[in-house]
Amino acid sequence: MHGNQKINERGHLVFGGADCTELAERFGTPLYVMDEDRIRSVCRGYRKALAEKYPDSTVCYASKAFCCQAIYCIAESEGLGADVVSGGELFTALSSGMDADRLYFHGNNKQAHEISAALDAGVHALVADGDADFDLIEETARRVGVKARVLVRVNPGIEAHTHEFIQTAKADSKFGVALADGTAEALIERIDRSDFVEFLGLHCHVGSQIFELQPFQLAVDALTSFAALLGEKHGIVVREMNFGGGFGIRYLESDRPYEPYAYAEAIAERLRERVEEIGIPAPRLVLEPGRSIVGEAGMTLYTVGAIKEIPNVRKYLSVDGGMYENPRPALYGAEYEAVLANRAAEEGAETVSIAGKCCESGDVLIKDAVLPRARRGDVLAVFSTGAYNYSMASRYNRNPVPPVVLVRDGEADYIVRPETYEDLIARDAIPARLKR
Ligand code: LLP
Repeated sequence: MHGNQKINERGHLVFGGADCTELAERFGTPLYVMDEDRIRSVCRGYRKALAEKYPDSTVCYASKAFCCQAIYCIAESEGLGADVVSGGELFTALSSGMDADRLYFHGNNKQAHEISAALDAGVHALVADGDADFDLIEETARRVGVKARVLVRVNPGIEAHTHEFIQTAKADSKFGVALADGTAEALIERIDRSDFVEFLGLHCHVGSQIFELQPFQLAVDALTSFAALLGEKHGIVVREMNFGGGFGIRYLESDRPYEPYAYAEAIAERLRERVEEIGIPAPRLVLEPGRSIVGEAGMTLYTVGAIKEIPNVRKYLSVDGGMYENPRPALYGAEYEAVLANRAAEEGAETVSIAGKCCESGDVLIKDAVLPRARRGDVLAVFSTGAYNYSMASRYNRNPVPPVVLVRDGEADYIVRPETYEDLIARDAIPARLKR
């Protein structure tokens, strides 16, 4: 049984106070469902942990994990800022009313138009990813006529135990500048001399879906030592340290992550110790959790359709979604757990594979799910789909991206409305020569 599971007197799964079977009937499937209270309570957990351990701090929601206007409204109302990585995320954040001064703009290959938009809006800082990225930031700042504030993304070279595709701070990475070989130091010296860019501090992100505290503590050690070097050798003060996100969540019943706030506490405590130990000015602490804020707050509802049993081999239950709305199993081998939402009190009776409806054999969402004997029309609920599902969805096979509803105390509202077939062709164009 999954940790997020609550069942009502009708034997139906309940999520965010709402009966999932009723949600499926009312909104149709596939449907992404987000639990507002859960999102808010994680945000508060982070704020509280840092308020106690390191008051000069900011929590920024890494909006790549799940991006739409409503999530920025929730993040801002909980006192969070946001990390944006594209003109599209920036536009969505600003259009939701989020204060630009709470935004950090990331990216290893920011485009000039994105940098201009970020500077025009007055974002708190851009995170310079390397010399080439800095050159474009400087050139754009000169053109726009404002002073850009930057953090520099450094690679402390810490190997986190996670899936290779989502490991971003090892030496061979497209992100950041290396600490070890002097590249980061040289870049920061350049920034310090610039008339158009102001150096604010350092950023690093050790990886994603990490279950240990140690990689983050090692990152604190690396960045504080580097800050001491910058101070001693160049008289440069690091005013902000941003340790990114990457705090692991529970996808499977057997997963044992720390509570989100425990990661924040561990980083804050270590930073406080190190600042005292090395005698550097205490920087503002910034964290950028994404997955841990929205991951377990999301679930996806499907309707069971075709059932195919291959004797002595496998039984496939096909659902009305698939890799277009959750690409993570196909991309990363990610694992999920599911229940039948309309028969949630029944015991598991058989092991089946949950297949999607896309034209690819690899479109399998769950390889081995233990479920009651399912029938066409049953509602399948997959847990922990709030992060990197909707945000990474595609329209493969011209399947419309499913809508998202936000539930709270049993009430449910769209935060992303359904896409229609008309929407799918809205930007298609047929050149005159192809017209009959
Ligand atoms: N900050 C930076 C600079 C990042 O690159 C990331 C994630 C985060 C914060 C947020 O990390 P989180 O707390 O969400 O782990 N698509 C992959 C995950 C890619 C993460 C990329 N960067 C997945 O589905 O697992």
